[in-house]
Amino acid sequence: MSQAPKTLHIKTFGCQMNVYDSDRMSGLLEVQGYRLEKDIRNADVVLINTCSIRDKSEHKVLSLLGELRPLKQKNPKKVFGITGCVGQRMGRTLLQRVPHLDLVMGPDAIDRVGQLVGSVLNEGKRVLDVGFDTDRKRTYSQPSVIPRAKPSEFLTIMKGCDHFCTYCIVPFTRGREKSRPIAEVIQDVEHLVEKGTKEVTFLGQNINTYGKGTPETLAQLIEAADRVAGLERIRYVTSHPRDLGDDLIAQFGSVSKLCPALHLPFQSGSDSVLKGMSRLYTQQQYLEKIEKLKRACPEIAISTDVIVGFPGETDADFKETLKVLAQVEFSLVFMFKYSPRPGTRAFAMGDEVPESVKDERLHQAQVLVHQILDRQNKNLIGTKTHVLIEALDKKAKHFSGRNPQGKIVHVFNAGSACIGKTIEVEITEANGSNLRGYYVGALRAERNQPFVSATSFS
Ligand code: 5AD
Ligand code: SF4
Repeated sequence: MSQAPKTLHIKTFGCQMNVYDSDRMSGLLEVQGYRLEKDIRNADVVLINTCSIRDKSEHKVLSLLGELRPLKQKNPKKVFGITGCVGQRMGRTLLQRVPHLDLVMGPDAIDRVGQLVGSVLNEGKRVLDVGFDTDRKRTYSQPSVIPRAKPSEFLTIMKGCDHFCTYCIVPFTRGREKSRPIAEVIQDVEHLVEKGTKEVTFLGQNINTYGKGTPETLAQLIEAADRVAGLERIRYVTSHPRDLGDDLIAQFGSVSKLCPALHLPFQSGSDSVLKGMSRLYTQQQYLEKIEKLKRACPEIAISTDVIVGFPGETDADFKETLKVLAQVEFSLVFMFKYSPRPGTRAFAMGDEVPESVKDERLHQAQVLVHQILDRQNKNLIGTKTHVLIEALDKKAKHFSGRNPQGKIVHVFNAGSACIGKTIEVEITEANGSNLRGYYVGALRAERNQPFVSATSFS
């Protein structure tokens, strides 16, 4: 009699790249016969894909591991693995500190996940794989693994980062920049489109320098993706203001499938803090890039990341950050309190801003951003926009998707037949975090109803 397939549960923390890596691990394991299991308690293999960008992210992982211990006591055969950046950073220490952990592996070991989990299951070993790709070539290959595809998918096109911003752990956990060849990426895009994907977001920690050390560039990849029949939208993340060249800026006005949206972290408005962070641009240079982007594409939405409380940040420095936030009116802002990461240059700087001051600055920035977003989104009431419907909301009250600018829109009179379709939506309500509206193709009579099911949608 054949054995029942092993079941797998993957929990993901952190950035989109981790979401992609988790999908890839589940794809690789599914090919080997594993079946996905939603309930962590019932899975034979539990993988936790982790993030170490801030101290808090690491604490979350360690406390989750503590909570999961009773499951291992109940079923010693259950396999627990840590993958991703915490695995890479803590390595053997993690195996030593957490006796119920069977596997620790870093981001570069993802394509070996089948073999590694197999060693635990079949040989009863505790396994460590934090091997770094030390090959000095500037390219790497990642064979296509696409068991299923959502309307909007992430696709990793490069790994690593060569920037070494002084606060950032990424270059230490993900290594140097390496890119996949355009032909291979385009093949993945085509496979995704065959399975129903309409929008692809290319991922890289420092994506503007995609192809560094090879004749290929990000601009060329965008042009090639624009030619893929059936693909409707292209996005990419994350850009570095210093590396966003004029060719890439111009594409926002010329490449039809490239969405008018760009994530361009500025981190701080203060030139002296930017210098301490080794960001390699000034406030003025950042604002000039924004001007150029708006000239190339007036409807472009720009989102950003901000760190408050970097070592030595004064009140005057922080005011410069508030000034940029007020001036640019970003479409979305991710705000973080500076978190010292062992091994980075900023860790050794000392001059820590007190926690209470960081809290106060974060609060001030959040209040300002919320006011701006609330006003910005309310201005959209009465306008129409195109939304690629991605899913039914968990509470089944509405469908949701994003407009070209990347804003989340909840649509109240769409049906399940619209998942994967781009529909025209009139915005009727808005707040600081989302937009709500109605599919304009639907009957007027339906507008007053809170939710109309699939049958009403053609
Ligand atoms: N502390 C706080 N925020 C950080 N980020 C990166 N490293 C740190 C750190 N040590 C933020 C940056 C980056 C985003 C992904 O995370 O804003 O753009
Ligand atoms: Fe980290 Fe800077 Fe590289 Fe971004 S560009 S991943 S912040 S080192």
